Amino acid sequence: MITVDGDLVSVSEPDGTRREYQIGTPEAFRILSKLWLRSGWDVKYVYTFTWLGRPIIQLPEDLLRLQEVIYRLKPDVIIETGVAHGGSLIFYASLCKAISTGRVIGVDVEIRPHNRSAIEAHELSSYITLIEGDSVAPSIVEQVKAQVKPGETVMVLLDSNHSKAHVLGELNAYAPFVTQGSYAVAMDGIMEDIAGAPRTQPDWTWNNPRQAALEFIAAHPEFEIEEPVFLFNESGITERVTYWPSAFLKRVSS
Ligand SMILES: C[S@@+](CC[C@H](N)C(=O)[O-])C[C@H]1O[C@@H](n2cnc3c(N)ncnc32)[C@H](O)[C@@H]1O
Repeated sequence: MITVDGDLVSVSEPDGTRREYQIGTPEAFRILSKLWLRSGWDVKYVYTFTWLGRPIIQLPEDLLRLQEVIYRLKPDVIIETGVAHGGSLIFYASLCKAISTGRVIGVDVEIRPHNRSAIEAHELSSYITLIEGDSVAPSIVEQVKAQVKPGETVMVLLDSNHSKAHVLGELNAYAPFVTQGSYAVAMDGIMEDIAGAPRTQPDWTWNNPRQAALEFIAAHPEFEIEEPVFLFNESGITERVTYWPSAFLKRVSS
């Protein structure tokens, strides 16, 4: 149990001991952030944002951190599975325009007509290619492959069906696109931590993208999980507040 009394955050450990932290410590911040993420899940906090006019279903800090990775890497191609309203595609496209590098490929099993129209009518549509179909279907993977030119730096973002089996299937299908030094990102491993909350399933404790990422790297030593480094940090904080724990799989060798 966690209690907050004025400036004091108290937490019961599994062994029954109770620890207390001043609110201004990194430990208190980590405890309260976990609580905030859980509360945010229940109230659907991430369903309240748009990016340049399109709904984007992401935690703002995750987007800011991803922006840091994209700015550092400057990929030629950003592939994302899971388009929904298109806000994340527009987000990546806006970064591509700002840094004069890169284009975006979005794959979704169902691109609803109103979402397709809005994405195609957007100011940044020329940066985006939409491909409709199951992200792990070989014909869809082939269509994505046809869009990537030899020698291009490729980054892959996995935000479609978040079951362990599907994300593992996506990693097997799309990790070969990821160039050395770049990343595949298995989004929404938060599922593991919020199992038991409303709109969750009991099997989320193991059936989630984080577990897919761990299983994938165990079989693929050419990939490692790497926490994005903070490019600027004048705080006592060293951990991300994130929906994407253990998500960044970096290709470290060919
Ligand atoms: C969480 S939403 C994507 C959110 C979006 N990336 C954003 O940031 O706003 C998940 C999307 O994955 C799509 N999806 C589910 N299963 C899929 C599959 N097998 N292949 C491709 N897309 C899938 C759904 O249609 C849905 O649009």
